[in-house]
Amino acid sequence: MPKTKTVYICSQCGQEYPKWNGRCYACGSWGTLEETISEKRSGNAAHTAAKMTMSRIDGVDFPEETRCKTGMNELDRVLGGGLVRGSLVLLGGDPGIGKSTLLLQICNTLAADQRVMYVSGEESERQIKLRADRLGVNAPGLYISSCTDCDAIIEAMRTEKPSVMIIDSIQTMQLSDIQSVPGSLVQVRECTNAFMRAAKALDISVFLVGHVNKDGGIAGPKVLEHIVDTVLYFEGDKQLSYRILRAAKNRFGSTNEIGVFEMRDKGLYEVENPSAMLLSGRPAGVSGITILCTMEGSRPILAEVQALVAKSGFSAPRRVSAGFDYNRLCVLLAVLEKRAGFAFGAFDVYINIIGGLKIDEPASDLAVALALYSGLCDKVIGEDVAVFGEVGLGGELRAVSHIRQRVREAARMGFGKCIVPKASLKELDKSEDYGISIYGAANLKQAFKVLEAIAEPGDKK
Ligand code: TYD
Ligand code: MG
Repeated sequence: MPKTKTVYICSQCGQEYPKWNGRCYACGSWGTLEETISEKRSGNAAHTAAKMTMSRIDGVDFPEETRCKTGMNELDRVLGGGLVRGSLVLLGGDPGIGKSTLLLQICNTLAADQRVMYVSGEESERQIKLRADRLGVNAPGLYISSCTDCDAIIEAMRTEKPSVMIIDSIQTMQLSDIQSVPGSLVQVRECTNAFMRAAKALDISVFLVGHVNKDGGIAGPKVLEHIVDTVLYFEGDKQLSYRILRAAKNRFGSTNEIGVFEMRDKGLYEVENPSAMLLSGRPAGVSGITILCTMEGSRPILAEVQALVAKSGFSAPRRVSAGFDYNRLCVLLAVLEKRAGFAFGAFDVYINIIGGLKIDEPASDLAVALALYSGLCDKVIGEDVAVFGEVGLGGELRAVSHIRQRVREAARMGFGKCIVPKASLKELDKSEDYGISIYGAANLKQAFKVLEAIAEPGDKK
């Protein structure tokens, strides 16, 4: 029986304290200390004469192809080009967002020529089978099980030697020699550690499903993020059908990539053309709307920015922003007021990025500023205009990256005009015909002038 004593663990960073505190001194969070029983797994005989082996860096050889395709391009891209053998991937997301669906669907491709085990601690084998039938998953190499015993699962990994193991979810898993309940910080941490060791030792890729807590992080977030190789978040508005997959950490690729999916009655479908999806249903002839060309990783995406500027009934006008940084919105309002002479003081301002997209790129500034201008002056911006550019505090437009990809994407989606920072124009290839009229503006005022100049007669107010 291992020796136990009561300790307090910060649910944010995992720091342990012998006594309760209101605040974690390690990470500064308030009210996050949880009472648990301190337990270390026995059996790690660290005091026997341990030996470390060393290799010269040029003497380390590794197999050529260590990645396998999951059959979902959107997921492969977020993983950095496929699933790396022996890696531990944590997939987090709200309940009902589609984590189990996504992982069961990729089994169909993964298990076509290798052994894949799907272990659920939440559903019975019958339930998994029903879902698999509905999703059309019937690959010969797929084995399913309903089990919550972590040791038993690792034993099965050892004896059955699957190539891919899926654990749905880590919060239901339990190590019998730890007394804390499943889902508690200690259980989740130790189970994740156990799966990590097994994944590396047996060279098995492991997916762990993690539920998120009410703050949107995976329960015991930082603790788990340190352990695993890759952390993916599956997000989206449950009322809407599309879902966005993001990497928050990736030891084998960039964290900038996103994958876009749509939930339909037969499971998740990949959205190869997110711009078309985000632009569908755009209202015509309404003021306060601009089309932004933003980069999500290596992929340009067109998104609709909406601004509503309405007379305020409050003494302090409201500023509400969905999908765009609130502080950045306040900065842009101040710049518009100081550098271009537009007063928003008597108006409530609401900004919304359509499609539940979250934009955190400076290049989105110009689109938001022009939407605010359009909303305030009630001037409709032409339907075939796309914009991007960073706005400086002096009202100047700063150069942004990837101008060619952005312009090409706008042209591909049928836009005829594009307003960009003047400083970015030199990045354009002079010899290439982009199939779109490109207007450079050095500052906000010039951007407004360009808008006036290119407005179609029907759009004029
Ligand atoms: P699920 O994968 O169970 O979510 P999670 O594992 O993240 O909790 O997804 C469940 C939701 O997805 C549920 O609300 C129903 C919906 N859904 C579909 O719309 N179509 C489908 O084919 C499936 C399997 C689920
Ligand atoms: Mg599930």
